[in-house]
Order: sequence, then C-alpha cells, then structure tokens
Amino acid sequence: MPFLNRLHIPGRSKPIEQAKPMDYYAQEYYSQDEQAQLPSQVSTQGGLAASSSNHSQNLDQTPEQVQLQQEQQQRQLAQQPQPQQHEQSIPIEQQQPQGEVETQPQQPQVVLPSQSLHLKSAVSKGKYSLTDFHIMRTLGTGSFGRVHLVRSVHNGRFYAIKVLKKAQVVRLKQVEHTNDERRMLKLVEHPFLIRMWGTFQDAKNLFMVMDYIEGGELFSLLRKSQRFPNSVAKFYAAEVTLAIDYLHLHNIIYRDLKPENILLDRHGHIKITDFGFAKQVETVTWTLCGTPDYIAPEVITTKPYNKSVDWWSLGILIYEMLAGCTPFYDQTPIKTYEKILAGKVHYPSHFHPDAVDLLGSLITADLTRRLGNLRNGAHDIRNHPWFGEVVWEKLLLKDIETPYEPPITAGVGDTSLFDHYPEEQLDYGVAGEDPYAQHFKDF
Ligand SMILES: Nc1ncnc2c1ncn2[C@@H]1O[C@H](COP(=O)(O)OP(=O)(O)O)[C@@H](O)[C@H]1O
Ligand SMILES: [Mg+2]
Repeated sequence: MPFLNRLHIPGRSKPIEQAKPMDYYAQEYYSQDEQAQLPSQVSTQGGLAASSSNHSQNLDQTPEQVQLQQEQQQRQLAQQPQPQQHEQSIPIEQQQPQGEVETQPQQPQVVLPSQSLHLKSAVSKGKYSLTDFHIMRTLGTGSFGRVHLVRSVHNGRFYAIKVLKKAQVVRLKQVEHTNDERRMLKLVEHPFLIRMWGTFQDAKNLFMVMDYIEGGELFSLLRKSQRFPNSVAKFYAAEVTLAIDYLHLHNIIYRDLKPENILLDRHGHIKITDFGFAKQVETVTWTLCGTPDYIAPEVITTKPYNKSVDWWSLGILIYEMLAGCTPFYDQTPIKTYEKILAGKVHYPSHFHPDAVDLLGSLITADLTRRLGNLRNGAHDIRNHPWFGEVVWEKLLLKDIETPYEPPITAGVGDTSLFDHYPEEQLDYGVAGEDPYAQHFKDF
C-alpha cells in the first residue's frame, strides 16, 4: 500500500553484526571476496550511486471505472486446491493470539516448490477485539494508518497489528484493495509469507492481527550494507521466488515487491508482508499500482497485465540487492517511468555474468521473453544457472543456514531493528457513528 510518510531512512554506516555463510552454495560460488564482504559490505564500487531513500511511495492512481468493467474477479476461494503429496509440516513459529473465539490454525504445509501449497479458510471476521491486546510502539507507517507492536493480554505474546483508517481508505479509493488485502492475507499460508490471524474493526479503524517479525525490513539491512554479495542476494531472491511462485499458483498477483515489504525473522529467513495490492486474478488486470522503481513497463502504459509483473519486480529486487540502487532510479517518479519505458539497464561490472543473464530475462519489456511468463512458468527461474546451487526443497523447509541472523538482543518483543516513528494520539476503540460500515462488512 502507499507508503507516503516514511520519516526515517536507516543509516548506512552500521555494519551487519552477525553473518555467516550459507551452506547450500557451492564453494566456487563463494569467493574469498564475498566471504570478506558478508559481515558489512560497504563497497562504494559499482559506478552507480546508491539511492539513500526508500522507494518513495507506491503509486496508486486506480482507474476504478476501467478496473470495475474489466476485472471479472473470481472470488471462488472456497474451491481450495487440495494439499498435494510430499507434504511435510514445519513448526509454527508463533502461536495464535487468544481471542474470544479461537480456532486452531492449520499447520503450514510444505511441499515441493513445483506443487501448490494449500490456502487457508477465508473466514477471520470478528475473532478478536481491541481488548485482547495492549497496543505498543509503532513499527511502520503508511498512508492509511500504521503497524503497531502489540501484546496479547491472554497469552502475553507479541503480534503486529496493522491499523487502517477507514476515512483514508475511502478517500484514497482503496476500499477494494483493502478488502482484497484482508482476504488474501487470510488465505495464504507459506513459510515466507506473513501469517495473519484475524481482523476486527471499530467505528473508525480496521485492524489486522499478524505475527510480529522481529528482524526488521530487508530494506534496512540493505541500506546498512549498501549492497549484498552475490550469494546473499541469491539467498533472499530464492526465498522470494518460492513465495511469489506459491502466490501465482493460486492466481494471486502480489504487485508490491520491494525490500520494505520483506521482513526478516529471528533466524534471517524472509517474510513478505503488505498484501495491500495483492489480488486474485485468473487472467489479466489493468490497475495502475505498485511502487515506481519496481513497476513493470506494461503497468505504466496501462496495458492489460498478468502475474509476470511480479517477475519483473523480482528482477528489480535482485538488481537493487546487488547494486545498492534500483536500475531505473531517478529523482521523480515521472523520470523513473521514462527510464523504465526506455528500458536501458546498466549492469555494474561486479555483477556475476549469470546474474546479468537472469536479470536480462526478467527486466525485459518483451513478455514473450520474460522468465516466469513462459511455458514452464517459475520453473525457468528456479532452473536458471544463477540459482544453480540452490536446493529448493531444502530452502522451502528452511533447512539451510541464513546469511545473516538479526541481532535480537532484547529477546522476544525486541524492536531495536525497526525505525522509530512519532507516536500519535490513538482513536482506537472510540465509539461513534460509522459512515463507512457498508464498505467493510468482511472485517
Ligand atoms: N508483521 C509485521 N511484523 C513487523 N513489522 C511489520 C509487520 N507488518 C508490517 N510491518 C512494518 O510496518 C511497515 C508498514 O507495513 P505495510 O503492511 O508494508 O504497510 P503499508 O501498506 O503502509 O506499506 C512495514 O514496512 C514493516 O516495517
Ligand atoms: Mg508496505
């Protein structure tokens, strides 16, 4: 969702405090140079100036009329794919907050990457209320509200609650996206996607209860490191690839891939958060949304587009992790769009040739060439030589060492890896008239 009020830019100078090699990379890929860079890669090489800010805002100029006419959304999520063979369960990392009505969540199911994991039930309405939580500090802010650390009054555990102001959501024409966000978040279940436990609302606000992911944003880590060594970028890219592949298998386009929306858990595995633009789309869609640096050219030109916009964004993400800045970075979104449409990508000389080859096939406007959009789908990406050493099944099981373990020194509920945001007077739980009630019946 739009990210207009980001106040703090993480500093660049702090080193990454803990780092260790990844055991699933072949030794030859793991050059001495890269090992040396792992703890605190602060290289100024590469010929491109690193952007010091986050990716400005998401863009959202929804042509609602076009969208409403054209997007024949199938909402038959009741037809959930059955779990496939080869399933293995993994431990649940955090427990469900205890609310009034508690239902036991299904165990996350892990299958081979080529198979689809199942979706959860879409029912989440009214399971919790504000009185179930102590609201604590702000972890992040967006255009419609903020994300808080909270603590369950029942089990004492920490969770994150995203709060959206109904008036803002309506004013910015995000009603459909917000309802989609809730529905998609409630459905998905994957080791690398955020888990949402339930939602509730008061007269003014919408609340989404999620697991709290302590390790902070990949964005902060990247800015502190300036850029990642090849093997580190590959690790995060591989986990992202599995998550996006899972979403696509369920016909969900994510549409807002960027380091700000990728969190790191306490072990250093990723969790993608922010389903503000995620949508179930069987064929194509038209809505102009995303974050300027990460938007595919077909979205800018408002052509019908499909899931392959996420593979374009994966290319931008890999580029940014390797270079420290995005390939089409410029001062204003308009200039960035011009560059995206011109399509000229400069690859710094330190990029591994396999990375350049993969990026050339992801950051391409030619949809008949873009990897992920061809006959074999995400298989082509997973089989690309750049990912040659990745054992995907092990990765999905998190059965590999991560390149970086966030220093969560204060134990559970530690927020030291998150930026600080000015706190504001909260109007949560205030009774009163709700002029927007009809828009948010699902919450
Ligand atoms: N489950 C979570 N655990 C920890 N931090 C979170 C969680 N969800 C979101 N955040 C933090 O809040 C920020 C804003 O949340 P996000 O869902 O991305 O909102 P927006 O739609 O405004 O971008 C994220 O970038 C992240 O820093
Ligand atoms: Mg976000």
